[in-house]
Amino acid sequence: MSHHKIAIVVGSLRKDSINRKIARSIATFAADRLDSRIVEIGDLPLYNQDYDAEAPGPPEYARFRDAIRAVDGVLFCTPEYNRGIPGVLKNAIDVGSRPYGASVWDKKPAAIVSASPGAIGGFGANHQLRQVCVFLNMPMMQQPEAYLGGVTPDKFDADGCLQEGPLRQFVVGFAAAFSEWVELIIRSRKMIAEDAAHSAAK
Ligand SMILES: Cc1cc2nc3c(=O)[nH]c(=O)nc-3n(C[C@H](O)[C@H](O)[C@H](O)COP(=O)(O)O)c2cc1C
Repeated sequence: MSHHKIAIVVGSLRKDSINRKIARSIATFAADRLDSRIVEIGDLPLYNQDYDAEAPGPPEYARFRDAIRAVDGVLFCTPEYNRGIPGVLKNAIDVGSRPYGASVWDKKPAAIVSASPGAIGGFGANHQLRQVCVFLNMPMMQQPEAYLGGVTPDKFDADGCLQEGPLRQFVVGFAAAFSEWVELIIRSRKMIAEDAAHSAAK
C-alpha cells in the first residue's frame, strides 16, 4: 500500500476541541499508511465572490487552496452546530471550491467524522457535509459511518489521543477503512489512466 498524503480539516477552532483530538488520533492510527496533517482554517477571511475577480485574492486563500491541492485525500472531523455544519468549516469549503471551475476538492477521496458529547454524534452536520461533498464531486467513504456520540474529555489521554476502550477500537477501524478507501480510489484512477494510455498507443 502506498503512503498517501491526507489533509485533515477540523470544523472547530476551539483549543480543546474533541474533534481535533479525534483527528489527531486518526492520524496516529493510520500513520503507517497515510501521511496526514491538519490544514488550518481559522485564518480564512469570510468568502466573498468579489475576491475571485481580484487576482490573487487573500493570501490565506492561496495557502489553503495550495494545501488541499497537494494532497491525495481529505478527512473532515467536525462538530455539529445547531444541527448543521459549523460556519468556519462551510467557509473553508466554499473558499476551496472557487474560483468557478478550479475547485481544489474535485475527485479527492474523502471521509467524515462528527463527534459530540451529545447522544446522536453530530448526525445532522455529518449528513449536511456529505451532501455538500456530493456536489463537490468527492468520492465519499460510505462505511463505516462515524457519528461519535458521548465523546467527553475523559475519553482522551494527556497527549489528546483516545484512551483504550470501544470508542478507540471503532476509530482504529475507521482509520484502517479510510486508508483502504483512499488507496482504492487512487489506484483505480491510475489503472484507468494506464489502460487509456495503453489503448491510445495501440
Ligand atoms: C454554537 C453551538 C451549537 C451547538 N450545537 C450542537 C448540536 O446541534 N448538536 C450537538 O450534538 N452539539 C452541539 N453543540 C455542542 C458541541 O457538540 C460541543 O460544544 C462540542 O464539544 C464541540 O466540538 P469541539 O469540542 O470539537 O469544539 C453546539 C455547540 C455550540 C458552541
